Amino acid sequence: LTVRSLPREEAVALDRVDPLREFRERFVLDDGLVYLDGNSLGALPRSTLERLREVAEDQWGSRIVRAWEDGWLELPLAVGDRLAAGALGAAPGQVVVGDSTTVCFYKLASAALDARPGRTEIVTDLGNFPTDRYVLEGLARARGLEVVWLRGDPCAGPGVEEVAHLVSGRTALVTFSHVSYRSAHIAEMAQINAVASRAGALTLWDLSHSAGSVPLALDEDRCDLAVGCTYKYLHGGPGAPAYMYVRRELQSELRQPIWGWLGRRDPFEMAEGYMAAPGVRGLLSGTPPVLSLAAVDEGVRIVAQAGLDRVRAKGVALTEFAVRLVDERLSGFGVSIASPRDPLRRGAHVALGHASAQRLCTALIDRGVVVDFRRPDVIRFGLAPLTTRFVDVWDGVEALARLLGEGATGS
Ligand SMILES: Cc1ncc(COP(=O)(O)O)c(C=O)c1O
Repeated sequence: LTVRSLPREEAVALDRVDPLREFRERFVLDDGLVYLDGNSLGALPRSTLERLREVAEDQWGSRIVRAWEDGWLELPLAVGDRLAAGALGAAPGQVVVGDSTTVCFYKLASAALDARPGRTEIVTDLGNFPTDRYVLEGLARARGLEVVWLRGDPCAGPGVEEVAHLVSGRTALVTFSHVSYRSAHIAEMAQINAVASRAGALTLWDLSHSAGSVPLALDEDRCDLAVGCTYKYLHGGPGAPAYMYVRRELQSELRQPIWGWLGRRDPFEMAEGYMAAPGVRGLLSGTPPVLSLAAVDEGVRIVAQAGLDRVRAKGVALTEFAVRLVDERLSGFGVSIASPRDPLRRGAHVALGHASAQRLCTALIDRGVVVDFRRPDVIRFGLAPLTTRFVDVWDGVEALARLLGEGATGS
């Protein structure tokens, strides 16, 4: 087990020819740190520091309230359009950046249910991210609807056939994560959209683990609705605002439930009664988080510069490298790959299964290898393509091999 079949030099060589290698320099990252948790929080771009300074000092500091008229009110739409073009495969006028992912998800799920009166079911899977599941449970409770759970294998689903089996004329909404937060499985978005659409249901996708890591084609794939966070692969910063996508044809039909002044037509009229602003502006509720939007804009700019095709190619190469190393170095210690083995069906992280995952995860972090643990038995190696080197993958697997070799499983 201690035979090292794949030397570290191979990782060094892969880094040397990596077309995105100079991107890592654009981020604040300690060279000694093995950061494999970009799927939780992406690293800080150096240019974001300058951008935040500029917005704070030159705009807030000098223009104070007048800066709202200099363009701050347009930021949710402007950043949305740049995100749409750079990472979502969506034409302009269909994306806004606004509230937290949870709130965005609530707004769009609620709007979708309102648009399908008389239908009583919401289809999702148990592998969906907890906040999505809880929001759906809350909506179902408040409206007397039923959540129909798909309980498949997290490495294989949600599969098109399974979804087709659950969707019917009773279904109002079909909603999944595009890339699973746990297994990194990539769902077949276009086919699931087609299944839902044939049944007259709307689709809502959570793109939190997709945008900035795998190419998306929301328009071409006929997505109805989507949300996603910006603090992972889009490097927008802790708690950065999320985005909402509503396909253009649906915009006049859908009404989100939080009727705030900045989603109203002519908000500064301060008039009686709510009338939604046309287009995606009507998805907004309150005052936009300007500093955070500037940080999201900067992260999106860097991802767009790298280009999603190159980002994806690197993500596939990194996860393939990780899978190969884990098979060679760790399978003898009882570590399994808890992600799809087909790279085309796998996002930018690799889930490793082990009975002592929690203890191992803590020990890895103590040794400067930052990964995360997902109950009950998964360690995620998040391989954010712009900031992860092949040597980081090698060092991370090696550190885990050493721990296992030392018997650090606690069992
Ligand atoms: C798929 C998915 N949805 C939603 C969230 C979190 O939602 P919020 O940004 O509201 O905390 C996460 C966080 O990791 C996530 O992975």
